[in-house]
Amino acid sequence: MRILVTGGLGFIGSAVVRRIISGSDHEVLNLDKITYAGDPSTVAEMASSDRYHFERTDICDAAAVARAFAEFRPDGVLHLAAESHVDRSIDGPADFIQTNLVGTFTLLEAALAWHRERPCAEPFRFVHVSTDEVFGSLGPDDAPFDETTPYSPRSPYSASKAGSDHLARAWGETFGLPVIVTNCSNNYGEYQFPEKLVPLMIVKALRAEALPVYGAGENVRDWLYVDDHAAALVQVLESGYPGETYAIGGSAERQNIEVVRGICDLLDARPRQDLIEFVQDRPGHDLRYAVNTDHICATLGWRPSVSFEEGLARTVDWYLSHEEWWSAILDSRYEGQRLGSKA
Ligand code: NAD
Ligand code: TYD
Repeated sequence: MRILVTGGLGFIGSAVVRRIISGSDHEVLNLDKITYAGDPSTVAEMASSDRYHFERTDICDAAAVARAFAEFRPDGVLHLAAESHVDRSIDGPADFIQTNLVGTFTLLEAALAWHRERPCAEPFRFVHVSTDEVFGSLGPDDAPFDETTPYSPRSPYSASKAGSDHLARAWGETFGLPVIVTNCSNNYGEYQFPEKLVPLMIVKALRAEALPVYGAGENVRDWLYVDDHAAALVQVLESGYPGETYAIGGSAERQNIEVVRGICDLLDARPRQDLIEFVQDRPGHDLRYAVNTDHICATLGWRPSVSFEEGLARTVDWYLSHEEWWSAILDSRYEGQRLGSKA
């Protein structure tokens, strides 16, 4: 297959690119604007492959995106480019509206024009990669989210992703674009930008800085190792059904404080736990996310290959052995927001 990936220099997109180039015969065109979250070093080992191509492109640039479709002639799209951090969406939502909504619209229009140009016999799929956060916040005893859960986004990030999901499905229903939507839970693993919970706590603990846990640390997320998400996305592109939605998760619900204590334990037990500080809570902080993965397990045979404990240990090891990667980010590009404000 010829696969057009958007956001392939980000955390999950780069895991997808690495998996495709190293584990299949598919060819990739990676379109990425290289925002603060995009980093060419995440795919450096793939760059020499003649099946890997890169263009620095903003997905809001209709002419550039149309040209990419016409020249690369993709059989499928994996759309991951997005603004992805909730705290940034609270401090400045404009980029989220632009990339997540206008950018997705621009990409859908280009994909539709390309799909209409292709011979009918040649299959095409557009996989729109989204989040479980579009479903809102679960109570402690609620059933996990699944493909039928109504949308109820509560942050500017999740609202912009919800809007982009609706656009993608509308282009499927109204114009016949073969769209598939995935809604995945929180990812963790190598090359995650150190503003998200897991890498932020690892690098702060290593620097013996305070570990800012929002509120009482009781919010629950369902954690999936990034390579397992990448495997699911490639499988959905190869064999998912157009018009379908796939809910993806790790079946690994943990309270934030458990995750942070787990990281401290992996590093050196008690002394780092003393760095934990309960700080002012995030506004509108969703209490719990959890995902029921029965549908993707039953129809595509996908399941997570790594437990949370094993994945977290691998992730901590990776950050320990890649200090040059994250310290360069912290020293030059990191624009931390909402951190360090004590309750
Ligand atoms: P990320 O922030 O690490 O990477 C986003 C990438 O998109 C970066 O490389 C960035 O340069 C690029 N990008 C941003 N705006 C762009 C634009 N206008 N044009 C082209 N490229 C642009 O994000 P991530 O964590 O890898 O998430 C990828 C996708 O998966 C997002 O759509 C996100 O909503 C979704 N998702 C993320 C998680 C998670 O836990 N991180 C969970 C479920 C779903
Ligand atoms: P995050 O990694 O930002 O992902 P999301 O908001 O998309 O779930 O945050 C995960 C959880 O960790 C969330 O409940 C907020 C919490 N959190 C903290 O307690 N402290 C922090 O410094 C950050 C970044 C997040």
